Amino acid sequence: MANILCIGAGYVGGPTMSVIAKNCPEHRVTVVDINEDRINAWQSDNLPIYEPGLDEVVKAARGRNLFFSTDVNRHIAEADIIFVSVNTPTKTFGQGAGKAADLQYWEKTARQILEHSDRAKIVVEKSTLPVRTAAAMERILNSNGIKFDVLSNPEFLAEGTAIEDMNSPDRVLIGGRETSSGQKAVQALVDIYAHWVPRERIITTNLWSSELSKLVANAFLAQRVSSINAIANLCEKTEADVNEVAYAIGLDSRIGSRFLRASVGFGGSCFKKDILNLVYLCEYYNLPEVAAYWEQVVTMNEYQQLRFVSRMVSSMFNTVAGKRIALLGVAFKANTGDTRESPALSVCRSLLEEHANVVLTDPYALDNARQYDLADVADRIEFEPDVYEAAKGAHALAIMTEWDQYAKLDYERIFNSMVKPAFIFDGRNILNHRELHQMGFNVYAIGKPPLTNFPADTFEFDE
Ligand code: NAD
Ligand code: UDX
Repeated sequence: MANILCIGAGYVGGPTMSVIAKNCPEHRVTVVDINEDRINAWQSDNLPIYEPGLDEVVKAARGRNLFFSTDVNRHIAEADIIFVSVNTPTKTFGQGAGKAADLQYWEKTARQILEHSDRAKIVVEKSTLPVRTAAAMERILNSNGIKFDVLSNPEFLAEGTAIEDMNSPDRVLIGGRETSSGQKAVQALVDIYAHWVPRERIITTNLWSSELSKLVANAFLAQRVSSINAIANLCEKTEADVNEVAYAIGLDSRIGSRFLRASVGFGGSCFKKDILNLVYLCEYYNLPEVAAYWEQVVTMNEYQQLRFVSRMVSSMFNTVAGKRIALLGVAFKANTGDTRESPALSVCRSLLEEHANVVLTDPYALDNARQYDLADVADRIEFEPDVYEAAKGAHALAIMTEWDQYAKLDYERIFNSMVKPAFIFDGRNILNHRELHQMGFNVYAIGKPPLTNFPADTFEFDE
């Protein structure tokens, strides 16, 4: 039996440790956090994050071999293996502000581990970190005579499918030192995952390849979204249809069909932060052309969100001032309540600047938006959980999140309750645009020619 500890009970720490506990009943798994509210929620029936399948996994192990606590120091002392999954946001101050990762939570944790350990332990980097962080980690941890083995085990789960991704990962990546104690530590972690992950999907590399692979995986994924979004803009000018283009190119097995959904832009806590971190590293290592190449992925994403709003304003006769606009979805993607970096936030702020009356609706994410991301402008926004109420009296609807239920709404009923001419902007291309057009909507999708009821070329969009 091993005492496994995870420091950080967030979107990564909570789900990953619950799956480890469920699959490894002989190990005792404890998840600690300094945020007492979060820990209380993990101990309750009302978990702090919404994630399909999470309730069942937590219920299967909690109280048996899965525990949540705020007593960080005691659990560090008892642990054999310590995963660290604290947040590593973009630095907002000093050197590297706006790009580099802010490693203060990470370093604090390393020092806390050192202070409360009296024997050798394995420390696992689960957070996403700049390449070569493990070297700094080793220097701190091994400064007091006790030998710690530092491993890198980046997490590749995506929110909304976290449990599925953990249960059946494409791969588990473990990086370690090539020393005998490093390799022993790697083997100990391999043995944990081997409880449920086929051995050939558990790959081991050196520490630096593992750390860097995480940043690179996110950069490649985000790059695909920015690439198809760039092409969507060209489609809008040329009457090509981006869905058709994505389908045609995706059938080439070298390109592949996944992650080619054109959208209002990518959101989430990882893509932007990790690419900017990669950009910072390239600049640090004096590779300005490489840095500029990757930075363009983020620039394109920001343009995509601004362009979405310009298109709304210009197609609605160049003004949205005083008009009710309902944004359907605040979560950065479907099946999560997470709103971090959601394109809905920037679209909402831009519309407020245009003096629109914005109403937001979402099945799970309204509280996060109201309490955190949009707290400074919350008094200027209507938060409405009922989508039909949100649409009532609106001049326009905009789909911001690809929630399944938004594709299945009674749009006839919605159309009848809206101000005419009624506009719909599909920022996720999930609706049946022809059908909506036949109902009377003026329909603007991403990367497709608009379907309007106005005489041709009357309001041609050109920002
Ligand atoms: P999060 O903000 O949801 O959770 C981090 C938690 O760490 C917070 O609850 C915070 O209170 C806690 N914490 C901070 N300092 C602490 C300390 N000294 N002691 C105890 N607890 C402390 O963040 P997250 O989304 O879970 O991400 C964590 C890491 O995993 C980041 O590096 C992120 O880049 C990476 N990651 C995230 C995802 C994702 O989908 N969210 C996926 C893969 C990797
Ligand atoms: C991402 C990575 O996928 C995951 O491996 C990593 O561990 C964390 O970062 P996540 O941010 O949770 O996961 O969600 P993801 O499914 O990657 O979507 C990110 C954003 O891109 C969302 O806003 C999503 O709507 C958008 N997206 C994704 C598109 O706009 N089009 C696509 O084709 C795919």
